[in-house]
Amino acid sequence: MKRTIAILTGGGDCPGLNAVIRAVVRSAVLQHDWRVIGIEDGFDGLVGTPRWRELDPAAVRGILPRGGTILGTSNRGNPLAYPVTKDGESRLVDVSDEVVENFHALGADALIAVGGDGTLKIARTLQDKGMPMVGIPKTIDNDLRCTDVTFGYNTAVGVVTEALDRLHTTAESHHRVMVVEVMGRDAGWIALESGLAGSADVILLPEIPFQLDAVFGSIQRRREHGSRFSIIVVSEGAFPAEGQKVVQLSAEANLGVERLGGIGQFVAGEISQQLGIETRVVVLGHVQRGGTPSPFDRILGSRFGIRAVDLIAAEKYGRMVALRGRQVVDVEISDAVDSLNLVDPDGELAGAAEALGICLGR
Ligand code: F6P
Repeated sequence: MKRTIAILTGGGDCPGLNAVIRAVVRSAVLQHDWRVIGIEDGFDGLVGTPRWRELDPAAVRGILPRGGTILGTSNRGNPLAYPVTKDGESRLVDVSDEVVENFHALGADALIAVGGDGTLKIARTLQDKGMPMVGIPKTIDNDLRCTDVTFGYNTAVGVVTEALDRLHTTAESHHRVMVVEVMGRDAGWIALESGLAGSADVILLPEIPFQLDAVFGSIQRRREHGSRFSIIVVSEGAFPAEGQKVVQLSAEANLGVERLGGIGQFVAGEISQQLGIETRVVVLGHVQRGGTPSPFDRILGSRFGIRAVDLIAAEKYGRMVALRGRQVVDVEISDAVDSLNLVDPDGELAGAAEALGICLGR
């Protein structure tokens, strides 16, 4: 009998998701003559009446350069803590058994879950409940372990770097300080690598609680040397050594996911108040996640998709595909999600930034 496999994309979207979907469909159909179905809106599509569609090569034609995900996604639909409103009261319930039942009812043999640590943690639990799973690591934050890089990250770094290049010319013309707040949650990868590529003067990361005096000193030294402008990249999860993260919405108020944002405004306020320099804030926000994927992410997403199909062919479940050096390999999903991949404050990359004269706020 012809095999059926399913694919879903969960968590925040990122560039390269469609490359993965396309590769999974083409490789499953062309190499194995399998049937592929796409679950809509992440695990949400397996709660209640399942929402899914047939995916054949015609359905994925022309999507390689497209951002987002043709299947839709959700970073609110965790089946282990699913928001349900009854009699006007909202509470979180475990609907994972329903998800497993719905999945089996679709007649699928295996599910490819494309997502970040949240989605892959759910995948691990569902694998333990008897759903054959293969994970593919996605996130602009690059905070997943066991892979050198997640797809989506390269594009995000490119977007931020271009923004920094553009901000340089206006900052310089007006002799201003520009504070650029970038995404990344608790990982400072986007800030650090785009800051390096975009020649930032100060980079503030969640992994290095910052001293405002160090930031002020760096701006002042630049002015003494004739540079009357500065570019500061602040990761949304960065915080002062004597303070804490700036949270827009607590996890309780936001269905289990803390919404960060506002540290850029705080840093800018301190600079203009303490140094009397005209300062502006740019919050790049979801621009970092949208739009066409870079060639690197198109290729990596495609290779990940093909490897995931190979794992199903070999009936190797509970595994996540990963990049190690130049090779695509596979690892236990559990090993990838037990802790986050964060910037090493004493590592080579942070050291390179400081060797170039960039202030990391310490
Ligand atoms: O995890 C990806 C990410 O873009 C983070 O960098 C950011 O904190 C978060 O998602 C934003 O989520 P939302 O789309 O819910 O605003």
